Amino acid sequence: MPVFPATADYIRIAAVALAGGDIVAIPTETVYGLGANALDAAAVVKIFAVKERPRFNPLIVHVPGIEEAEAYAEISGPARKLMAAFWPGPLTLVLRRRTDCPIADLVSAGLDTIALRSPNHKVARSLLEAARVPIAAPSANRSGRLSPTSAADVEAEFGDKITILDGGPSALGLESTVLGLADDEVLLLRAGALPREALEEHLRRPLLSPAKDEAAGSPGRLAAHYATSTPLRLMATRPEANEAFLAFGPAAPAFDGPVINLSPHGDLAEAAAKFFASLRKLDAAGAKAIAVMPIPNHGLGEALNDRLRRAAAASSIEHQAKAAAPATRVLTR
Ligand code: TXA
Ligand code: MG
Repeated sequence: MPVFPATADYIRIAAVALAGGDIVAIPTETVYGLGANALDAAAVVKIFAVKERPRFNPLIVHVPGIEEAEAYAEISGPARKLMAAFWPGPLTLVLRRRTDCPIADLVSAGLDTIALRSPNHKVARSLLEAARVPIAAPSANRSGRLSPTSAADVEAEFGDKITILDGGPSALGLESTVLGLADDEVLLLRAGALPREALEEHLRRPLLSPAKDEAAGSPGRLAAHYATSTPLRLMATRPEANEAFLAFGPAAPAFDGPVINLSPHGDLAEAAAKFFASLRKLDAAGAKAIAVMPIPNHGLGEALNDRLRRAAAASSIEHQAKAAAPATRVLTR
């Protein structure tokens, strides 16, 4: 049985396993993570292997708070203020690694930066406290797939290959917001569960977007990610026959095919919490496409639209690959 309830006993056992070099899927308030001791390169290698994650894509390291972060990264004034304001919570800061940073180089994928986050989830925090090591944890999905927001989602991704600590559904449902602070400016590397508006109000300046060539520095910005096997049709006002329908808000038209309204009241937080699970469900409906209604682009809508755009790019690439597969076989025969 790979899924264990997050009782005090199992948290203790999982902490010992993590500190000893095993990987364990853990709940956080954003999405489930695939955790490993960040100090242990052999443990971190297992994450890349199980996820089939490209080695050039660095991992987020989870820490209890600012004090621990100081051992790993150079923390500028603005970074410290952001941590004080938003930690624990869904904010990841990419900072310059300290020269004596003991975290495995593999975690940073060869970059001179490190991504740090302090999760706001009881189980994740208890684990960090008990394991007494920083925990590297990317989202617990196979590389390029939808992020998991429940233990069952993780199990569906990996079967009994990994141990999962079940801490209930993730309350926020979208990954953390990632900011780049290694230089003087503050870059929004990934929109996420902490909306841009809250950060800009705190910083009293707009967040910058990384230049195109800088996107290589944050490989998670790959255009195609969060793939469903059903193609997505974005900005749909109404679904067509044989489609599934991901609706949003009170204006959603009625539909007698597979349909989920992310929030009939138009509440973006509710939509975020239901987002990945809803996409998974509609993806399993065997429809020719998933029609997705427009979602407003403010607040959490920015991250939702980012995930939708990348999912659409990924599913169309996958679709083309599938369509091309027979021809490829003929060529190689
Ligand atoms: O909410 C979250 O952030 C979840 C939970 C488990 O904490 N984790 C998560 O990890 O989403 P992952 O690996 O799926 O996404 C990490 C993102 C990727 O886009 C990665 O490229 C970026 O953070 N990242 C990590 N380290 C980086 C670095 N040193 N420089 C730039 N980007 C980095
Ligand atoms: Mg991910």
